Amino acid sequence: MSNWKHRHIIDLSNFSLEDYTSVLELANRFKALPLTGARKLPALQGRLVATLFFEPSTRTRSSFELAARSLSADVQSFTPSSSSISKGETPLDTALTYVAMGADVLVVRHKSTSVPESLANALEKAGEKTAVLNGGDGLHSHPSQGLLDLFTLANHFSPKKPVPAALANKQIVIVGDILHSRVARSNLWALTACGANVVLCGPPSLLPKEFEDFVDSPPPGQKKDPIKKRGQITIIRSLKEAFKDADAVMTLRLQKERMCQNLLTSLNRYHIDYGITHESLKWCKKTVPVLHPGPVNRGVEMSGALLNDRSICLVEKQVSNGIPIRMALLYLIASRE
Ligand code: CP
Repeated sequence: MSNWKHRHIIDLSNFSLEDYTSVLELANRFKALPLTGARKLPALQGRLVATLFFEPSTRTRSSFELAARSLSADVQSFTPSSSSISKGETPLDTALTYVAMGADVLVVRHKSTSVPESLANALEKAGEKTAVLNGGDGLHSHPSQGLLDLFTLANHFSPKKPVPAALANKQIVIVGDILHSRVARSNLWALTACGANVVLCGPPSLLPKEFEDFVDSPPPGQKKDPIKKRGQITIIRSLKEAFKDADAVMTLRLQKERMCQNLLTSLNRYHIDYGITHESLKWCKKTVPVLHPGPVNRGVEMSGALLNDRSICLVEKQVSNGIPIRMALLYLIASRE
């Protein structure tokens, strides 16, 4: 943990295997602790975590706030509709306002790609030590979701030791609206870093062929990939084919709010072709777990019956794992200071 070097967490493309190991090991320790009532950890006592969610959220915002409180931080949330954003204040001026009030960490969600990164750069330039944690930006990145998905899968494959190596050579099928999904992008960096092979499955309108090369080169501004050998990414259009050798299936919300054209014939057609059900899971050679980052469009990405089936569907585990993962991120950032 002493080697943690990220002041800000914007994206997983710059995470090393050591970083993934630090987060998962720490999350596993936090997960085992009963952190209710007075039994909080003092790690972030005297620190202020502000959650600046310019776009709606249930899971990410609440679990960051619960995580911060479990570590004894003070938490200040922000509601855009009743804030000075409605008077024209910019995200940067909003962030600087919370920094002036003493925020040590800003958790930022925004519908536009790069807002958290721009805020982090502006704070660095201004000589501020406040850390920025990306709570999801546009189509770009949702690092804490990628990490909690990784932790959930590692726990599934290796409950006694949920470490990155638990994912090595596993085949993870990600189904659906990859094009509009920051969750898919963060999962591609995380899963391939841990040696998993990812099969992407969806119609061409929601899954362009270029995604096969997604992790081949680091994003602009990043000199090199910290991972020596990543798992492979393959596109298979047919759900039946994609499921054949699956070890786990992850399906994604159809992001209707980000679709600017008619990319699908109908939701019903989409469900017939790509909806996950108990029936379609019979194409897998074995029983596999199903993940979804939430919120779910019931009866579109997956059937209501499957969503309710806790023996297969890990959605609730993903949500509860979000708290120790976000505790680990807050702790690591604070310990770096
Ligand atoms: N998975 C996720 O980001 O959910 P919320 O939008 O509810 O935070």
